[in-house]
Amino acid sequence: MRFSWWLENSEESFLGEILKSAENPNLISFAGGFPAPELFPVDDLKAAFNEVLTHDNAYALQYGDAAGYFNLREWISKQHTRHGQRLTPEDVVITTGSQQGLNLVAQALLDPGDIIFVETPTYIGALQAFQMYRPRIMMVPSDIEGILPDELEKMLQKHNPKFLYLIPNYQNPTGKIMGKERRNELIAVASKYELCIVEDNPYGELRFEGEPQPNLLDLSENVIYLGTFSKVLAPGLRVGYIIGDPKVIEFVTRVKEAVDLHSNNLTQRAVYQYLQRNLLPSHIAKLRTIYKSRRDAMVQALHRYLEGEVEIIVPSGGMFLWAKFTGIKDSFKYLEDTIRQNVIYVPGAVFYPDHRISSEMRLNFSCSPPEVIDEGIRRLAQAVRKKY
Ligand SMILES: Cc1ncc(COP(=O)(O)O)c(C=O)c1O
Repeated sequence: MRFSWWLENSEESFLGEILKSAENPNLISFAGGFPAPELFPVDDLKAAFNEVLTHDNAYALQYGDAAGYFNLREWISKQHTRHGQRLTPEDVVITTGSQQGLNLVAQALLDPGDIIFVETPTYIGALQAFQMYRPRIMMVPSDIEGILPDELEKMLQKHNPKFLYLIPNYQNPTGKIMGKERRNELIAVASKYELCIVEDNPYGELRFEGEPQPNLLDLSENVIYLGTFSKVLAPGLRVGYIIGDPKVIEFVTRVKEAVDLHSNNLTQRAVYQYLQRNLLPSHIAKLRTIYKSRRDAMVQALHRYLEGEVEIIVPSGGMFLWAKFTGIKDSFKYLEDTIRQNVIYVPGAVFYPDHRISSEMRLNFSCSPPEVIDEGIRRLAQAVRKKY
């Protein structure tokens, strides 16, 4: 059997391995990017599916439009603006999660050898989606607010990327958020060089403190925006969306038709039913409160058990905390010991496309209650201390 270039040349997924080990019931996993399952709005979703299957079954179980269920696209378009103007359903295509959004955008835009720019570090799933189309991935230096506009400009003077991919809100893996001024500076540089930005925003609604920031979509025509219901509702639904100008949407829809005809019709309609009942705002408010208490528990535990041994960035939203070991250069080093102590994190190196050595790690706090977080960090400290 001869497999594709991409499969022959890609490494086995480290995250896949980690997720397999997370099946051990005694393991405390800070590795996944999972929302808390006990917070899924199961009864409301049951009611929504029931409503659709009772009253809308002929459409819900039939083939549908490649761009997605019109009412859902309309609902999404009303939530977003560009230069302050409301969008229309024609600006939206529904995707099977934003992971498919990443793939479709890459498929629609990239030819082998094209350059793309990404933040340093960035979401590993985006790198996987892009790598399939064989681009040259270049990292733009970043600080605590994300991409540095001056560094971006320097790179744009030398290279002509197809797009820049970034996660401005509660970034995966670092939890960082980009302030308003930085957003404006970034858009100014991007406009000067006619750079297309792919803005991925799964975590923006999970804000614990601070003012909401404007979407880059609102600030420029040259932005393709990826949204999802995975983190605010449930990832198993696999409902996400792409917003772009009508030309982008037309092309992406053409690609999507070839990939899967359309996303799951029943689920799109059930999500719309749920949204129609105006249940999302109170659900998000609940997620914010609970995830904030979990973030606090993790910060406290890191201070209690690992003071001086890690430097942390305290996120103001999202699901992840980024920490750096001060005593070692490579955070892979502790992993065997931590797994033996039944606790796991993701080593920072996997989020850098150049696989540099990194002393950082990503810790997920959304998926464990405070007492489990405390115990997990205690175990982590035990594994780490053994090394000294
Ligand atoms: C930054 C980022 N983009 C996209 C995704 C994919 O999300 P979805 O479940 O919508 O496919 C994730 C999931 O963790 C993510 O962290």
